[in-house]
Parts: sequence; structure tokens; C-alpha cells
Amino acid sequence: MDTLTLIRPDDWHLHLRDGAALEAVVGATARQFARAIVMPNLKPPVTTVAQAMAYRERILAALGKAVVADPACAGFEPLMTLYLTDRTSPDEIVLARASGQVHAVKLYPAGATTNSDAGVSSVAAVHPALEAMQREGLPLLIHGEVVDASVDIFDREAVFIETVLEPLRRDFPALRIVFEHITTREAAQYVAQASGPIAATITAHHLLYERNALFIGGIRPHWYCLPVLKREVHRRALLEAATSGSTRFFLGTDSAPHARHLKENACGCAGCYTAPHALELYAAAFESVGALDRLEGFASFFGPDFYGLARNTARITLNRQTWTVPDVLPLGDDTIVPLAAGEPLAWRLAD
Ligand code: DOR
Ligand code: ZN
Repeated sequence: MDTLTLIRPDDWHLHLRDGAALEAVVGATARQFARAIVMPNLKPPVTTVAQAMAYRERILAALGKAVVADPACAGFEPLMTLYLTDRTSPDEIVLARASGQVHAVKLYPAGATTNSDAGVSSVAAVHPALEAMQREGLPLLIHGEVVDASVDIFDREAVFIETVLEPLRRDFPALRIVFEHITTREAAQYVAQASGPIAATITAHHLLYERNALFIGGIRPHWYCLPVLKREVHRRALLEAATSGSTRFFLGTDSAPHARHLKENACGCAGCYTAPHALELYAAAFESVGALDRLEGFASFFGPDFYGLARNTARITLNRQTWTVPDVLPLGDDTIVPLAAGEPLAWRLAD
């Protein structure tokens, strides 16, 4: 098989940033995807519908410039989210639902990751907002890691399931939940077996790499993200879930651009930049287990079905054509190193 044609996919978890970085990265996603759920962890975070609408306008303006450079970017639609805080009011949730543009609310445990300081201090503090979301049918997107420094970083997701997620789901059984960027066998099993409206996104990097990738020949900051890469047994479980055909698992790149100097740093930022070659990376992962025929459901169908949106109808094509991921790309006045820079990939999106 030398070509792979899919209904145009969507990215259900994406960081686009703002300003010059936004202008530099939005085209990469728009070339590949029809829509993307855009994360709200800006500085300051996107906590109100008014801020989300203004951010959406900035994304569309940046997209306009990208389309001039590459017409293949046209038609991309950003799906906005709100950043949940201890002070998010039920009224804001009602406004979000009514806007038709805000499609979900993101829960970052305070301190869990990049720009999460304003996040949620405890689930009890956000009960009124969660009640409103359950009532309004607005999905909750969860960064599922406990922040307790005494819990080993490789265990934070599994501990989160038991101590936070399961009690939350007991209290809000009808709340639609996406367990974002799952990284462990425990999370894959939990989502596969749970009753009620829960799904999970899986990144390409967690399907392709296990934690040794961080340390091959020295410390490799471009493989550092949160939740951090896990052992091989977990990567295998994620691959099995993604290629199982279960409608509960769908594509979310978590492409998280940081300038090169902020990654190659004594305290490097978390985040892998995968937007430019996202589909090629997912194709490599699916092909590694002979499951390319399952890619379309994961990339193009199960996400919109969960969010209650129409599936796309246009198609994209990947060609079997070996190429090399660029060493570095422009990012405004800075540069950025894409994940797997300098490495060959076997599939390439057709122009
Ligand atoms: O690696 C990550 N980067 N994980 C996150 O949760 C946030 C993201 C970012 O915004 O850079
Ligand atoms: Zn993210």
C-alpha cells in the first residue's frame, strides 16, 4: 500500500500559543487538520467566554496570514476551550454553551504543568461549575496527574485515577469527560472499561516512544513532555487502545511549541512540537502494529462523534515517501525544534 486516503482528521488537543508563536505554528496544524480543540493555558489563561472569543479572532487573523503563504491551510476551524479555575461560575458555563464556539472546559490541577498555576486547587472547589457543565452537556477535559510532590512522577497519572477521577465521576456520572493525553496502561484500561461518557486522547509521541527516548546518548529535552513518557509496557497498552477500534480513543497531538532556547535549558519546558508532521507520526505508530486500517476511525471519526459534531467530508492523502523531519523551524524571532528532528519518516502528507 503506497497511499493512504482518510477523511480529513481533527486534532482534539492542541496548543497554539499567542502572538508571534501563534502566527508561526497555526499553519502547520491547518495544513493537516480541519479542526482543533485549542488549549486555554495562555498567560494569562483563557478563563472567560469573552477571552475565548477574542483569542479565536487572533487565531483566525493568524490563520489568514498562513493561508496567503499556503492555501492548503484554508478552512481550518479552531474549537475554543475555557480554563477552569476555583472561581469559574456556573453562569460562565451557561454562556460558554450558548456561545456555540466554546466546546469544552479544561481542568489543570494547579501546578501540574505549563501555565497551570491558576488551575484547580481541589475538585470540591469546582463542584458548582462541574454541576453546570453536566447539566449543559459541556465536556470536561482533564490533565490527569496528581501534583503531590511525594508521588513519583511516573505514578502521578495512575494515582490520579484512583484519588481524583473515580470520585469525580461518581459525583458527576453524566458529565462528559475526556481524559487527555493518557500515558499508562492503567489509564487505557480505565477508559476502556468505565461505564458512562468518558473518552481519552492519545498523542503520537506516547504511541511511538517510551521513556528511554529521553536519555539516549545524553539528556534529550525535545522528548520531554507532561505527562512524561512511560515504560514500554505502557506504550504497548496505548498502541493497543488506539488501534483497538474502540470509539473511546481518539487523536489529540498535544503539540506544545516552546522556543528552542527554552527547551535546551537548565530547566527545560515540557512539550513536544508535533504539529507539522502529526499525521505522519501517527501513521508510523499505526503501521508499526499493522493497523493502518484503524487510523481513520481514531483520527477522523471518534472525536467528532464524542463531541457531538459532524464528521468532516473532505479527504487527505498520505503517500509512502521517505523524508527527513527538519532539524529546526522558525518561531517568530526564535527557532523551534520539532519532535524527531533529523529522523526519517515513511509517510508524507500529499500537497
Ligand atoms: O508537555 C506539556 N506541555 N504538557 C502539558 O500539559 C502542557 C504543555 C504546554 O502547554 O507546553
Ligand atoms: Zn496539552
